Amino acid sequence: MIVNESVLDRAREHAVRFLRSLPSRHVGPTATRDEMLAAVNVPLSDDGEDPAAVLDALAGGIERGLIASAGPRYFGFVIGGSLPVALAADWMTSAWDQNCGIYATSPAASVVEDVVRQWLLELFDLPRDASVGLVTGGQQANFTALAAARHAVLRRAGWNVEEQGLAGAPRVHIVAGAEAHITIYAGLRMLGFGTRGVHKVDTDEQGRMRPDALERTLASLDGPIIVCAQAGNVNTGAVDPLRAVCEAAHARGAWVHVDGAFGLWGRASRATRALLDGADLADSWANDAHKWLNVPYDNGIVIVRDSAAHRAAMTVTAEYLEQTAGVERDPFEWTPEFSRRGRGFTIYAALRSLGRRGVETLVDRCCDRARQFAALLGRDPRVTILNDVVLNQVLVRFGDSDEVTRDVIARAQREGTCWMAGTTWHGVAAMRLSISNWATSEVDVERSAGAILAAIP
Ligand SMILES: Cc1ncc(COP(=O)(O)O)c(C=O)c1O
Repeated sequence: MIVNESVLDRAREHAVRFLRSLPSRHVGPTATRDEMLAAVNVPLSDDGEDPAAVLDALAGGIERGLIASAGPRYFGFVIGGSLPVALAADWMTSAWDQNCGIYATSPAASVVEDVVRQWLLELFDLPRDASVGLVTGGQQANFTALAAARHAVLRRAGWNVEEQGLAGAPRVHIVAGAEAHITIYAGLRMLGFGTRGVHKVDTDEQGRMRPDALERTLASLDGPIIVCAQAGNVNTGAVDPLRAVCEAAHARGAWVHVDGAFGLWGRASRATRALLDGADLADSWANDAHKWLNVPYDNGIVIVRDSAAHRAAMTVTAEYLEQTAGVERDPFEWTPEFSRRGRGFTIYAALRSLGRRGVETLVDRCCDRARQFAALLGRDPRVTILNDVVLNQVLVRFGDSDEVTRDVIARAQREGTCWMAGTTWHGVAAMRLSISNWATSEVDVERSAGAILAAIP
C-alpha cells in the first residue's frame, strides 16, 4: 500500500508533540551520546520492523538529544526556525518526492523555481535577469558563486577552466576581508584555489572590510581577481561597505562576490536597506533561506549576475538526459547537485504567505529583539556589548574576563531557558546571540536576558 495513513499520522503526532514542547522545553540537549546510542543502537533485524513502531523508537530514543533550535529561545550560531507554512510545504515536498534535476523529472518544481527566482530578485532588489540556484546552504552557495566567478575571470583571460582545469591557468588572485566566513575558504579549497594565497584585507573594529586597504591590495595585483565581500559578519552582523568595495573592485575588472548568508535579508526591509547599499553592484551573492527566512533545513540560495558564467560552471550534459532547449528551467544547471529535493516549494510557501511586508516584519522583529537583548544585558555594569547592533547579532562580554564570559555561557546553556554559543572576538571571549527565529517574542528575550544575567557568578 503506497499510502500508509497510520504511519503518516504517527509522524504527525510526533512532530506536533515536539513543536508543542518548543516554548517550554530545555533548549539544549539533556541526553548524553551514550544514552542515545543505548536507545537507538539495536542490531539490524533480518526481517524489518513495524513502521509505526520504528517511528516511536526513533522519536523516543533521540528525544532528549534534540535541540530546540526551531524554538523561540535558541540564539546559537545563525539558525532560524520554521514558519508553519514552510514546514507544511516541506512535508508535502517529501510526499511529492520529486527529483528536481531537470524539467522532465519535475515540471512542477521547475515552474515554482522560476517564480521563486523572480520573487527573490525583487525582494533583494538585485538584477532581474540574474540566475538563481537553490542549493543546500550558504557554503554551497559560496562555492557555486565562486565557481561561476572562476569561470568568468579565466574566460576573460582566454582560459576555459571547465575543460582545461587549473594546471597551467593564469593565476587568479583571491581577495577577501580578514573576517570572511570560513565557508568562503571551504569553497576556495574545493575549487582548487587553495587558501594560502588569499590576499586578506584589513577590517575595522566591527569586522568590515576597509575600502582604503582594499584599494591598496588591488593596486598590487595583476591579472584575474575575485573579491569576496560580506553582508552580515557572523559575529557582529556588520556589512562591508559594499558600494565602495564594488566600485574599487570593478575599476580593476574584478568579480565581486557577496556572502550574504543571513545579511542579504536586510535588503528586504526599509529599516536595514541602507546598510546594504551597493549590494546590487556585485556579481554574485550567497544567501540562506534556512537562516532568516525560517524555512526548514536545508535551503540555500546562490544568485549570479552573469547567468552564462553560472550555467557554464555548473551544467552537465549526457545523451540520456532530456534537457530542455526552450524556456523551461532545468534546475541542475544552476547547482552542484544533480538530483535533489524540491527546495523551491518551501521558499515559495514562505514568501507567498509572508508577502513583502511579512518578510520585512520578520527581519525588523529580529533586529528589534537583538536591540532589546543588548539594552537589557547592557544596563548591567558587569556586561559589555562589544558590537554595534546593526542587524540580528549581539556580542556580549561579562566581567571583562574571558573566564567569566565562558563560565556564564556554560552556566546559561546548562540552565536551559535559552541557548547561545561562545566565540572569540578580536582576541577576547564573547557570548554570541543571534536572533533569527520568527517566533522569538519580547517576553522570550526578557526571560532569556534574565537567565543569562542570573548565570553571572
Ligand atoms: C556569513 C556566513 N556565510 C556562510 C555561512 C554558512 O552557511 P551554511 O551553514 O548554510 O552552509 C554562514 C553560517 O552561519 C554565515 O554566517
